[in-house]
Amino acid sequence: MRILIVGSGGREHALAWALSRSPQNPDLFIAPGNPGTASLGTNVDIEATDIASLASFAREEQIDFTVVGPEQPLVEGIVDVFRAENLPIVGPTATAARLEGSKAFAKSFMEKYGIPTAPYRTFGADAFDEALGYVRDQGAPIVVKASGLAAGKGALVCETEQEAEAALREIMVERAFGEAGDRVVVEGFMQGEEASVFALTDGEHYVLTVPAQDHKAVGEGDTGPNTGGMGAYAPAPVATGKVLMEVCRRIIEPTLAGMREEGHPYSGILYCGLMIEDERPRVVEYNCRLGDPEAQVVLPLLQDDLVSVFNKLAHGNLEGVHLQMGQESAVCVVMASEGYPVSYPKGRSITGVEEAEDSGAMVFQAGTRQENDGTLVTDGGRVLGVTAVGADLEEALKKAYAGVERIHFDGAQFRSDIGYKGLRREDSPREQ
Ligand code: GLY
Repeated sequence: MRILIVGSGGREHALAWALSRSPQNPDLFIAPGNPGTASLGTNVDIEATDIASLASFAREEQIDFTVVGPEQPLVEGIVDVFRAENLPIVGPTATAARLEGSKAFAKSFMEKYGIPTAPYRTFGADAFDEALGYVRDQGAPIVVKASGLAAGKGALVCETEQEAEAALREIMVERAFGEAGDRVVVEGFMQGEEASVFALTDGEHYVLTVPAQDHKAVGEGDTGPNTGGMGAYAPAPVATGKVLMEVCRRIIEPTLAGMREEGHPYSGILYCGLMIEDERPRVVEYNCRLGDPEAQVVLPLLQDDLVSVFNKLAHGNLEGVHLQMGQESAVCVVMASEGYPVSYPKGRSITGVEEAEDSGAMVFQAGTRQENDGTLVTDGGRVLGVTAVGADLEEALKKAYAGVERIHFDGAQFRSDIGYKGLRREDSPREQ
């Protein structure tokens, strides 16, 4: 089996790792990949957004199926191009990927199909005064979002009306997110605890992975600016069995039915970013892919042959597929460059990865580069995802942080409280 993975981050390294464990012993190609994926397959020098070259590669190299990590190529139509050439691929079409690519579309879709989410209004970029009037009517806290893709930075949680005014100005007047801010969604702030739920779906049938929880803020105790994610753990006990039943009944099933009704069946991976209050889940956002760093904790818990599951998904038939998730826990601690998420240096030498792996952790690489002499150096904001599986959350945390301790690069920053909300709930029995 020949498989192409599109992307270059920690999620794609975790995908390569999970696929490489298959008894089918697949040949993996990762475009463009990173030094970590190079040890599991062949890195291919094609950017994740160069859709035409990726399709040519898949055709010429007789790739059996392709898995897409990041959202950008999905929103830009990679699935449409591959399907037009009969190249099997896991993911939604561009119109279906609007669930992530256009927050304005996602909100009106949820409203139309009665899917629980926060109240909202959408404004064009020239309607600053109107948007500000809505903010004043609603009061703070309130959330201001650029409708388009903004590399995970386009949602601004505003504690005061002044902050919301500044956020509107940033998106609508200063155009900080460019075209992504052509439309702006202003929505109510949701109280509760977040969870990420992933459904693999062929548009009709679906299966869930274990739920995970991301840590978006850069600082301990969820303080400071939001990042792409500073760590994750799974399963997230906030997503109890009762919550997951509600997620299926009130969110996933109506979403899939609604997309079929709209004439754009959704296939691939549906990521529901949820806020859960008193066991009532509401949708914060949809994404059209696996989360990063959630993939790094969800995939190691999967007992099934991922090659077989993704092959069925790429061929649009998940009927009869059930996922077996282990009873263990997994934790990923992201080690990031000093100054991330604002600005950060690159090219700092990284040591200790092998020692961390010898200690029982898995080190998924993200912002790394290998110099000609073989030295591994930093090359991005999120550098490594140090990941471990344990019998429970506590054990997984111990193993992941033991791995972190062995790794060094100048200015490395990481949160030392990954999983703290899960630990707080640890006394409650798992209800899944
Ligand atoms: N962990 C957040 C995301 O993947 O969008």
